[in-house]
Amino acid sequence: MTPFNWCFPTKLIYGQGRVCEVGTIAAQYGKKVMIATYTPGSALDPVINKVKSVLLAAGLDVTVFAGIEPNPRTQAIDKAVEIFNAEKCDLIIALGGGSIIDASKYIAATAFSGGKSWDYVTCNEHVGREYTGAFPIITIPTVSASGSEVNASGVIKNTETKEKTLSYSPYYLPKVAIVDPEILASVPLRLTQDSCIDIFSHLVELYLCDEDESEFSDRTTEGMILCVKDNFEKALDDLGDAKVRGELALCSVYSRSNFKAREHLDCMSMHAIQMPLSTHYDLPHGRGMVIIIPAYLEYLADVLPHRWAKLARRCFGVTETDDAKAAKMLSTEVVKWFKSTNSFLTLGDVSIPDEKFKKMAQDAVRIHSVNRVTSHKGAHSISAADVLAIYKLCK
Ligand SMILES: [Fe+2]
Repeated sequence: MTPFNWCFPTKLIYGQGRVCEVGTIAAQYGKKVMIATYTPGSALDPVINKVKSVLLAAGLDVTVFAGIEPNPRTQAIDKAVEIFNAEKCDLIIALGGGSIIDASKYIAATAFSGGKSWDYVTCNEHVGREYTGAFPIITIPTVSASGSEVNASGVIKNTETKEKTLSYSPYYLPKVAIVDPEILASVPLRLTQDSCIDIFSHLVELYLCDEDESEFSDRTTEGMILCVKDNFEKALDDLGDAKVRGELALCSVYSRSNFKAREHLDCMSMHAIQMPLSTHYDLPHGRGMVIIIPAYLEYLADVLPHRWAKLARRCFGVTETDDAKAAKMLSTEVVKWFKSTNSFLTLGDVSIPDEKFKKMAQDAVRIHSVNRVTSHKGAHSISAADVLAIYKLCK
């Protein structure tokens, strides 16, 4: 196994009903809380009301900010920063999915450091400033997918330039993540499909990017992939099963934590290739991953065929002994699985034409070049022509 450092500084509070502990937990970090969450009128209203009342009962002041869209944008984030500072908040609670958690990281760090959220982002010719710190962040995920509840990364979209990118900062690391499966049991069907496949994509990236053979590393990832497959199927039978939601939540947390990533996080190009779909067409992230994964696995099967083949054999029942042939079978098996869960989608299914493919391919190469860890062979470089070929396979 390649050398690595592991640090898991976020305190994980896991279990059904544990959101009720948010008052005592939050009181350890601040007095005036901003809750970043969804606008009223969603199925999460009772949870939002519960969190608010528990915080008030614990003696904290509460401001609710509810203007964050999917693929979080600078305009909403900067508005939240203004309110955060005007209200003299000293703690943020992200109650939502990946976009709300990512936005909360930018709010906490920008409100502390001054200026606007994009000032700190490096993207194309724009070089970001360094944060001077951040207000404490508590995350309460309402969807299991991004793993953002426990890591130091966040996606942001510039409202004016239409650029979208990912940035990292140690200041983004949440102090506490409260993962309560009861909250997750209200996630609707299509979002459940997209998010289970997003968790799968994170595990697959980590598995395939490393050419080293490590049974510890491979077996832990394979275990989580099999756990996602089993529990995805169970969730489709009963979306409200909190036990199943809890299993998926743990796969989400550990797949995107440095426990599994061991500093490989985001070094493969699969997510970078998806990102332009969200930037140009506002496609939800998980839905974009559903579309990209099969084409990606097919097109790049010869990068590290022994890794592709191992995953195909251990998680998808492939018995072919020749690595090159087994590697090619991974994509086919993944497509079968997506179809068996009614999750499979093409670009045509979400009405994305090919007119912007060239620009999207250039964007993907740029995004990947920022994050790539070149020492891992699976994290190979990609050209715009490669990305274009992958988009064409997604049609
Ligand atoms: Fe993802």
